[in-house]
Amino acid sequence: MLKDKINGLLSQVNELKAANAEEVEALRIKYLSKKGEITALFNEFREVPNDQKREIGQLLNQLRQQTESRINELREKLEISNQQSAISTQLDLTRTPDPIALGTRHPLSLVREEIEDIFSRIGFTIAQGPEVEDDKHVYGMLNFAPEHPARDMQDTFFIEKEPGVQKPTDVLLRSHTSSVQTRVMTSQKPPIRVLCPGRVYRNEAISARAHCFFHQVEGLYIDKNVSFADLREALLYFSKEMFGPETKIRLRPSYFPFTEPSAEMDISCNICGGVGCSFCKGTGWVEILGCGMVDPNVLEACGIDSKVYSGFAFGMGVERITNLKYRVKDLRLFSENDVRFLRQFESC
Ligand code: PHE
Repeated sequence: MLKDKINGLLSQVNELKAANAEEVEALRIKYLSKKGEITALFNEFREVPNDQKREIGQLLNQLRQQTESRINELREKLEISNQQSAISTQLDLTRTPDPIALGTRHPLSLVREEIEDIFSRIGFTIAQGPEVEDDKHVYGMLNFAPEHPARDMQDTFFIEKEPGVQKPTDVLLRSHTSSVQTRVMTSQKPPIRVLCPGRVYRNEAISARAHCFFHQVEGLYIDKNVSFADLREALLYFSKEMFGPETKIRLRPSYFPFTEPSAEMDISCNICGGVGCSFCKGTGWVEILGCGMVDPNVLEACGIDSKVYSGFAFGMGVERITNLKYRVKDLRLFSENDVRFLRQFESC
């Protein structure tokens, strides 16, 4: 009877096995091809009396579906295990792994952090401010006369308010981080002891010795009775910590609009120890920073009583200090991201 044949096959379907793709195909031919066993049952089905067609038809369809899905299942299993064995033969588990490439810290960051570290040991904290600034904070409050040449297009990048329209504007890229000092002085009450690190911009042609942007660390200390001797001691301490205990400093009179008196500071050449070499052009000294006592006009512009408080300020270029520590002669190397240069600081 047809029904018994169908049930007999149904009970075997889930037990069908195949060891490889050829055996799967053989099963398909045996049951489902034109001459296959199940196809033959469909032919027999034509003879089934009408009153049994419904029941036997359902059974027959179930048999065909179950057989198809069992054969597909066998095929998928074989494909997965083939892939796995392909992967396991490609893998060489004894191979030493590729070394993990360590990143390096940028020399300017290394030096900036060292400067921050040295001054933090004598109570300075870090202050940050915007790189896009206004005239007031960069020049006005720092006692620059309205016609001072530093504001000139030669030095300062002004920002156009409307693209392409060069109207007079007081929005600019800061040309020194003294702008952070004016922000701190207007927002905090003395005593103030801050270090202002950051990027600054000047309109210079790019060469080995100049760049349109560079980095500064400026410092500001305001309290009662701060004297020039305090400035000198702080800078001497810094120089010895940074360049070694034998380092000497010398202060030469100079001019900045925001300090009075002002000075430029040299350190004894850390290459020849002060005897004179090509680096210090035979003088034994190299210049590293500008400094001075905060001009009373600046204190007053920032709302600090100059009769009660006094203070000192200093500012240095991080590139300059890095050049002295690591002998980087061409400023452009700092911003080109050439890994051959950067890798040299791997162990620092
Ligand atoms: N702002 C000065 C500069 O950019 C440096 C400086 C800071 C000088 C503080 C004196 C005091 O050149």
